Amino acid sequence: MTEVSVAKDDAVSVADLVVLKNVNKHFGALHVLQDIDLTIARGEVVVVIGPSGSGKSTLCRTINRLESIDSGAITIDGRPLPAEGRELARLRADVGMVFQSFNLFAHKTVLENVTLGQVKVRRADRKAAEEKARTLLDRVGVGSQADKYPAQLSGGQQQRVAIARALAMDPKVMLFDEPTSALDPEMINEVLEVMQQLARDGMTMIVVTHEMGFARSAANRVVFMADGRIVEEAVPDQFFSNPRSDRAKDFLSKILHH
Ligand SMILES: Nc1ncnc2c1ncn2[C@@H]1O[C@H](COP(=O)(O)OP(=O)(O)OP(=O)(O)O)[C@@H](O)[C@H]1O
Ligand SMILES: [Mg+2]
Repeated sequence: MTEVSVAKDDAVSVADLVVLKNVNKHFGALHVLQDIDLTIARGEVVVVIGPSGSGKSTLCRTINRLESIDSGAITIDGRPLPAEGRELARLRADVGMVFQSFNLFAHKTVLENVTLGQVKVRRADRKAAEEKARTLLDRVGVGSQADKYPAQLSGGQQQRVAIARALAMDPKVMLFDEPTSALDPEMINEVLEVMQQLARDGMTMIVVTHEMGFARSAANRVVFMADGRIVEEAVPDQFFSNPRSDRAKDFLSKILHH
């Protein structure tokens, strides 16, 4: 017999890109992530919602190891997260992250912001990296801003640069942590449209947002968190029209009736 049988529990589907298994994390006495099991398939768009303090940002931060975990396992594309060094830098490039506060390098031009990581982490040739940066900046609609500094751009433009910067690394998955919540209302849509297009192009995305329109139109799945736990998961229509848990019902009644 040459065949090896694999117990079903151990089989990882090649479709699974991000896998969290029984992940726990504490901040001191606070059990901020509790037995988190979450699998994200290649090309899937998952929206994470839940009350303030429920652990959404911490969840995102563990996935690119800005935060360590106490127990459990996280794999990206079948590989456990590296703890440090070059492997970690590469992981951070594979997992693009866009934050609420744009986090661009203030003393670098827009073009340099989108070029730097390609050269330093991906070892790209500078000329090729600049060319790719310009293409990406065009794609997110800020090509004409390439030579400016971040402070000279609107919030919506800066956030689109941040998206281009993450995309320049050819990430396997993109994490968005409330990418529009620091923006003036008229700038929210320009960022959401870029995200919608990314989703349509097949990017694997984990998006923490309270933008329910985006969740309804772009998400394959909504994950609802409360008190460090995943309380409920469903396709958007089902979640919004027929939430099962009291926590989700309560949360939705608050955000939808405002
Ligand atoms: N570095 C830290 N040290 C200690 N406690 C922390 C730290 N980061 C977060 N927390 C706490 O962990 C809990 C979860 O925080 P987290 O930022 O993940 O929540 P969230 O769901 O993203 O909330 P929000 O919707 O307000 O962004 C909160 O109670 C928060 O105060
Ligand atoms: Mg948060």
